[in-house]
Amino acid sequence: MPVTIKSKREIEFMTEAGRILSIVHEELEKAIRPGISTYEIDRLGEEVIRSYGCIPSFLNYEGYPASICVSINNEVVHGIPRKDRFIQEGDIVSLDAGLIYHGYHSDAARTHAVGEISKEARQLIKVTRECFFEGIKYAREGNHLFDISAAIDRHAKAYGYGVVRELCGHGIGTAMHEEPQIPNFTLARKGMKLQAGMTLAIEPMINMGSAKVRWLGDGWTVVTKDGSLSAHYENTVLITEDEPRLLSLPNGDHK
Ligand code: MF3
Ligand code: CO
Repeated sequence: MPVTIKSKREIEFMTEAGRILSIVHEELEKAIRPGISTYEIDRLGEEVIRSYGCIPSFLNYEGYPASICVSINNEVVHGIPRKDRFIQEGDIVSLDAGLIYHGYHSDAARTHAVGEISKEARQLIKVTRECFFEGIKYAREGNHLFDISAAIDRHAKAYGYGVVRELCGHGIGTAMHEEPQIPNFTLARKGMKLQAGMTLAIEPMINMGSAKVRWLGDGWTVVTKDGSLSAHYENTVLITEDEPRLLSLPNGDHK
């Protein structure tokens, strides 16, 4: 399927999808505390998504058994919620959520600190978020897709971090994953030209140590090979002729 350019009407649906998803993340952030199970986080996430008349897009996606991905410490992404897995003081917790509103998807992730965490862990979370904002400096009509990738990579490398290569950002619209794939690492090629009306989920996944990852036996959970911490930050973004619009961060703590 080619890259889709969204109409004004489609952009309205995606704007609302993103706005609701931003609220889901706000509610989840408030709930994150030592002692909560990852299952309870998932229950809350699904409840908030459905309370807005939306559908949790992750649930049953290629057999994924939950609505939220909860990935703790050395887990990179796609951690499966469990009744017997509890958040602890000092953890870093990546929450990834997606929903469908009137047939249109939004996808976003945040990494949170639970109580006191090390200075190094705090920096990893901050820099991963900054990687996203470095990337979207190039997310506008006329630039090339891999300008975004290179900017993310450059920022992470400046801190000596490992940039995960096995998983990428993606186009998004009536499907969660549309073309194009958006690597978080530098490529020798330029990639396609960006056009107004493209909607992209840009999502740096950054490891404190090596970039290498492996999959756990559950078939989903991605962890760092060296056991180092990992952070994730993602928003659904609309390309315009001007500044990109952060659909899943509408009140823009933009900088
Ligand atoms: N946010 C993830 C992505 O961008 C999707 C999670 S995979 C799922 O690919 F299975 F949980 F849906
Ligand atoms: Co995504």
